[in-house]
Order: sequence, then C-alpha cells, then structure tokens
Amino acid sequence: MLNSEEFDKTLVIEEDLEPTDLEDAVDEPNRVLPAIEFRDVYLSFDDNTILNGISFTVRRGETKLILGRSGGGKSTIIRLILGLLKPDSGQILIDGEDVTVYDEREMMPVRQKIGMVFQEGALFDSLSVYENVAYRLIEQGLDSDEIDMEVRRMLQFVDLEEAIDKMPIELSGGMRRRVGIARALIGDPEIVLFDEPTAGLDPPTARTICELAIKLRDLQDVSSIFVTHEMNNVQYLSSEYATVNEDGQVVFEKEGEKLCLINTEVIMLRDGKIIFSGSDEQLRNTADPYIQKFIHGKT
Ligand SMILES: Nc1ncnc2c1ncn2[C@@H]1O[C@H](COP(=O)(O)OP(=O)(O)OP(=O)(O)O)[C@@H](O)[C@H]1O
Ligand SMILES: [Mg+2]
Repeated sequence: MLNSEEFDKTLVIEEDLEPTDLEDAVDEPNRVLPAIEFRDVYLSFDDNTILNGISFTVRRGETKLILGRSGGGKSTIIRLILGLLKPDSGQILIDGEDVTVYDEREMMPVRQKIGMVFQEGALFDSLSVYENVAYRLIEQGLDSDEIDMEVRRMLQFVDLEEAIDKMPIELSGGMRRRVGIARALIGDPEIVLFDEPTAGLDPPTARTICELAIKLRDLQDVSSIFVTHEMNNVQYLSSEYATVNEDGQVVFEKEGEKLCLINTEVIMLRDGKIIFSGSDEQLRNTADPYIQKFIHGKT
C-alpha cells in the first residue's frame, strides 16, 4: 500500500513519461504515438478567433467525439487535420509526424492514411455508387480486378452490396451516407474523420451509422474523430462495443459495470477552447450549466 506522498510520486512519474521512454517497453512502438495530436493550435479568420489554443490527442484505436455549437470550429479542426487549412500557430501531428507546415505534395501520403466522411455525404452525382467508392483507387491506378474486389468488400461492410450499380439520386439519405462511408474506407485508412455523419437522418438510420463507426473502432483498430450534435450518437459510441460471436456475426454489447469503454472520449468546444474533455459519464455528471444545457439540447 502506498502512502499518499508515494502515490502522488507515482502519478508524477507517469505524467512525465515521454512517448520515447515507452517505445522500448512495448512490442509496437507506433502504438504509443497518438494517431492525431493538436498542440496549442490557434486559428482566426479576420478578427474572428475560431480556435483559441486547442490541444488534444487521439490515441490509436480511439474515437474522439467532438461536440460544440454550430460555427464552433468542428469542421475547421477536420480541415486542419487534412491540411486544407493551416493554423496561425501551434502544431498538428499525424502518427507523430509534424505536418503543420506541409505543402500539398507533402500532405499527399499523409492524406492516404485518412478517410473522410463529409458532413453531407458529398457523393459525385454523375458517378455510380461503384465509381464513387472506387474513386480513390482509380486515381491511384490500381488494376481493375483489385479495385472491383475492394469496392465489393467496402459495400459489404456498409451493407449496400445491392446498390453497386445505382446512381446517387436513386438512394435514400441514409444509403448515401453509407456509400460516403464506404468511399472513405477504401484503401483501409488508419484514421477516419466523421463530420456529423448522422445529421438529418432518422434515429434507426443514424444508429446504423454509429454501428459502422463502432465496428471500425473495435474490429479494425481505426482511430477516429466523430463530430456530432446528437447526444444519441455520444451514448451509442461511448457505451457499446462490437464483437464477433461464435457464429462469426458482429454483435453490439453494452458496456457493463465491470467493463468501461476506455477508447472513446468526448471533447466539447466553446468560444474556441476545449471546455470539457473526458468520458461520457463525466460529461453527463458535470455541473457546468453550459454543458448541462448543451446535452439537454437547450443551446
Ligand atoms: N474559410 C473561411 N473563411 C472565413 N471564415 C470561415 C472559413 N471557414 C470557416 N469559417 C468560419 O469559422 C467558423 C467555424 O466554422 P466551422 O465550419 O468549423 O463550424 P462547425 O463547428 O463545423 O459548425 P457546424 O456545426 O454548423 O458544421 C464559422 O463561423 C465559419 O463561418
Ligand atoms: Mg461543421
């Protein structure tokens, strides 16, 4: 048993541990490098400060849920990760690589690690489902048999194999989002960025999108950012996990009292700052009146 002074020391030691110290201690050194890291990032448009010193990390295999009001800078964070915008100051690291000042050419291999699910699904309306999903691989010049196999595998993952020859206009909103997810997942990205993937969908359809994100997290070890307004999404992603049963089917289980999901955290933005970072339970139990209003849909 440690006395309180010793206990404090242990904590301090853990906090001081640099990733490089940990690297020797694990089999896969890459696992200890965060998939994404923001270090004190600032960004203003004219006089409007959107991000006012943002720091956070997304660990490998972790899902970070980002909450915040409309116009709060959530999509901006995603654009910064993709290198479509540059911060005024601070650093952005992907897999431990500082990409802050990378130009378009340098960003290309970084973007290949990232799948993006856009806010509105954003399909190319003049291309078929097949062509939409295959797009990235066609650009990379893969041979057509390989592309064919990958497209079918991805459409199977989102449960839309039957839509392969359809045009986007023939699909429902939920189907379009799922095609958008299949397109983001082609090439097996290690990181997937979801920007309000369930906005405007009915609750059961929104749930299927959350299930896809849970499957990616738990069965594919994908690291992701999931921007959302909807507390239902937060609840699904922070209290359920995917596993494969004896019959080889994917099933979703609720976290029990013994098991607590440690690979999903929430951050909340307000006025360019992170005002909360922690678990779903901590979020719900916080006394902060702004957060309480937000989670009850009153801001
Ligand atoms: N290129 C730009 N030039 C000027 N202002 C911009 C630009 N991009 C974003 N903004 C502003 O930055 C703020 C944050 O935008 P952002 O799209 O990140 O918000 P959001 O949190 O994603 O909102 P929503 O929930 O509505 O999608 C908004 O006020 C927006 O008008
Ligand atoms: Mg947005």
